[in-house]
Amino acid sequence: MCGIVGYVGKKNVAEILTGGLSALEYRGYDSSGVAVLADGKTKIYKAEGKLQNLKDLLKEKQDEIITAQVGIGHIRWATHGIPNEVNAHPHTCNCGKLAVVHNGIIENYKELREQLEAKGCVFKSQTDTETVAHLVAQKYGETQDLKEAVRLATSELEGAYALCIIHQDVENTIVATKRNAPLLIGVGEGENFAASDVPAIIEHTKRAIYLNDNQIAVLKPNSIELFDENNNKIEPKVELLPWEPIALSKMGYKHFMLKEIHEQPDVIRNFLSGKLHTANETTKLDEVKLDKNTLKNLNRIQVVACGTSLHAAMVGKYIIEELCEIPVDVEASSEYIYRKTVTDEHTLVIGVSQSGETADTLTAIKQSKARGSHILIITNRPDSAMAREADSLIPVNAGIEVSVAATKSYVAQLMAFYLLAIHLAEIKGSYDNSALTELKNELMLLPQKIELFLTKTDKIQKCSRMYSSSKNFIFIARGINYATALEGALKLKEISYINATGYPAGELKHGPIAMLDETLPVLSIMMKGKVYEKILSNAQESKARNARMIALTDSTDEKLDEIFDYVLNVPSVHELISPIMAIIPLQLLAYYIAEFLGKDVDQPRNLAKSVTVE
Ligand code: M6R
Repeated sequence: MCGIVGYVGKKNVAEILTGGLSALEYRGYDSSGVAVLADGKTKIYKAEGKLQNLKDLLKEKQDEIITAQVGIGHIRWATHGIPNEVNAHPHTCNCGKLAVVHNGIIENYKELREQLEAKGCVFKSQTDTETVAHLVAQKYGETQDLKEAVRLATSELEGAYALCIIHQDVENTIVATKRNAPLLIGVGEGENFAASDVPAIIEHTKRAIYLNDNQIAVLKPNSIELFDENNNKIEPKVELLPWEPIALSKMGYKHFMLKEIHEQPDVIRNFLSGKLHTANETTKLDEVKLDKNTLKNLNRIQVVACGTSLHAAMVGKYIIEELCEIPVDVEASSEYIYRKTVTDEHTLVIGVSQSGETADTLTAIKQSKARGSHILIITNRPDSAMAREADSLIPVNAGIEVSVAATKSYVAQLMAFYLLAIHLAEIKGSYDNSALTELKNELMLLPQKIELFLTKTDKIQKCSRMYSSSKNFIFIARGINYATALEGALKLKEISYINATGYPAGELKHGPIAMLDETLPVLSIMMKGKVYEKILSNAQESKARNARMIALTDSTDEKLDEIFDYVLNVPSVHELISPIMAIIPLQLLAYYIAEFLGKDVDQPRNLAKSVTVE
């Protein structure tokens, strides 16, 4: 993953680079570094751990770098080599004149490293990136042209990369390029920027050029030149960025995650606006670019996604099959791309991704696109690589999500699936009309219900404290909420590091029940509907094994207090949309446990917000 940033201009280079890296911290945060050209020398500064360590170091060294007018920076999520200062970027060559920052993975780095070592290159780190530094330096030695050196070097690279490179002998210049990793160029006046993502530059400019794969940009303070892989000069397309810097503020909440949980009612309202006016009207989903006949005759849908987005897809499968009678397969993108999958032009392939950048999902949709399938992308980033591959694009408009743990983007993805399923059912006539109206009505009532629920979280906080010392946690559910159990468990494990697992409740007795004893909390998700009684009996099986019992329910049955140690009540909702209501308390439970344990809620260890490596 990692985040990179570059700046050429007259402002304080160190401040701009570290400011940009702060905004990219969601991409990785195990070490960071910058390289600047100051007083005719390439100077590199790196620090292990959080970005603050680098900021402190740069403050100490400010006299050494004050004259710099060009620099590149990097925030790392380790792939090759442990997170320490040596492995932190920027990396350099034997002479130390060149510096490179890299996001991605160079797959053939071992072969290249052997060849370069045979030619006398001395490697200091365990990273794949250092190969790029030596390779470009070597090509520069041959050509004395940095852009050409980058072009020749990258033609030998396999894998994914976004690169920014500076060289001591090439004043006030950054050469930037990419393949299968994001990189945009920020266009300023008398200054220019490069970055992995919009938040790193939005404070400085709203104009940007999205680089395509294999394009090379040469940035100077007053010019940006763009070249294709054959060295032909091309006209850059400057786009206006739709982002507001205010979105990155915590707005008084202790953590971004808590703020983002509280934003969910508005995320739902926002999503519905323009698509559903009243429950009696049909949905308006112009984003779906398939004509009515093709939609009517769709005989298969495949959904690919990872992590939380995969859980949204599982709910999507349930709802589409229920309303539209179209078979839906859901698969983790990382599995989908390494087996023979049967898709063709009659299959609709849906990619779901908050970031729109996840490498496995991007590869999966590219594969299906090549086989002729219509690609529908559900994403929070309409400016992402996936969005650019889409035939149909449903932007979920949840606003930038900073916390690594996905919350509001999940709810927004669920909304996208609900509206898509309702839209398809309306076209196909596959579901009872009055039942559809009831469902739409319930969707419109949801924001108020969630708002009301969010005003009373004392019981969840108390429950969180009570169970925060547990080493393990089990979440059980059935039917449409099985995905909720998985998502609840994922939230808890990723931010509190408690081992949590979600099971379909009926599976408990096929193995997991052996683990139950008086130390293990079992949280039963029991939303009213078809499987309520079934899951209640599964919960009873846990009680009989002395498990610690928590219920999450919209039932007001007083008997539950006799069975469960804690009953977490949520407002009553339609069974089919209960996954949206049920996930809110589970997000809060994970949040309060992690917060109580003093964990780094917004930036949990070992994780990154966008996973741009396979
Ligand atoms: O950006 P994506 O939705 O494609 O990311 C997929 C997963 O990495 C992501 O959902 C991850 O599981 C969440 N951050 C977990 O909260």
